[in-house]
Amino acid sequence: MVKIAPSILSADFANLERDLHAIERAGADMAHVDVMDGVFVPNITIGIPVVASIRRVTSLPLDVHLMITQPHRYVERFAGAGADYITVHYESETDENISRSIELIHRCNAKAGLSIKPETPAAAVLPWLSELDLVLVMTVEPGFGGQHLIEAELDKVRALRGEISRRRLSVELEVDGGVNARTAGSCALAGADILVAGSAVFGSDDMAGAISALRCQTPITG
Ligand code: DX5
Ligand code: ZN
Repeated sequence: MVKIAPSILSADFANLERDLHAIERAGADMAHVDVMDGVFVPNITIGIPVVASIRRVTSLPLDVHLMITQPHRYVERFAGAGADYITVHYESETDENISRSIELIHRCNAKAGLSIKPETPAAAVLPWLSELDLVLVMTVEPGFGGQHLIEAELDKVRALRGEISRRRLSVELEVDGGVNARTAGSCALAGADILVAGSAVFGSDDMAGAISALRCQTPITG
């Protein structure tokens, strides 16, 4: 069954503990944490101390999405703060430093992800595919919640799902941006294993209903 990862970007930052407990009770599978540096993307959010603090108040796996330049400089510190998954962007590093980031993340016993922005072709991640635990396909321009999913990005999800199956890899495929009850079905049908959703979950008065609506839109693949 598809996993749902609410993005705390849409939570109340003054009440993160309350909001994390709310998504736990509502049936979330993990908490998605968007880290932005104001350089790689035009927005600034949270960093290592916040990850360390939320680690202490939730048992949900922390899925940390680094939208920062040269993330290899920070991946060990995010792992030390308690991140379970650490995803870096293809566009934010040299090829050499992407390999280095993956190695460092694994050395810290965390799961390593690689993400691509809408303008980047799916083929960009292929050189690392067998070393990765997760590929994150951005279905909006990274930086802000509440945008519309770019349908054409689902072609990349289909292509990567095909490649992961053909090579019999166990890489998880995650979709992030504009996922809601209307778009979740196409994301899952395209082959996504994990759906990130910020506004669709935190913007709802009924988080459990919102999470199950995201799941129920998804076809059961056994
Ligand atoms: C955008 C972030 C997303 C964002 C998704 O750069 O990576 O995780 O929070 O928000 P929604 O679900 O509202 O599009
Ligand atoms: Zn994200």
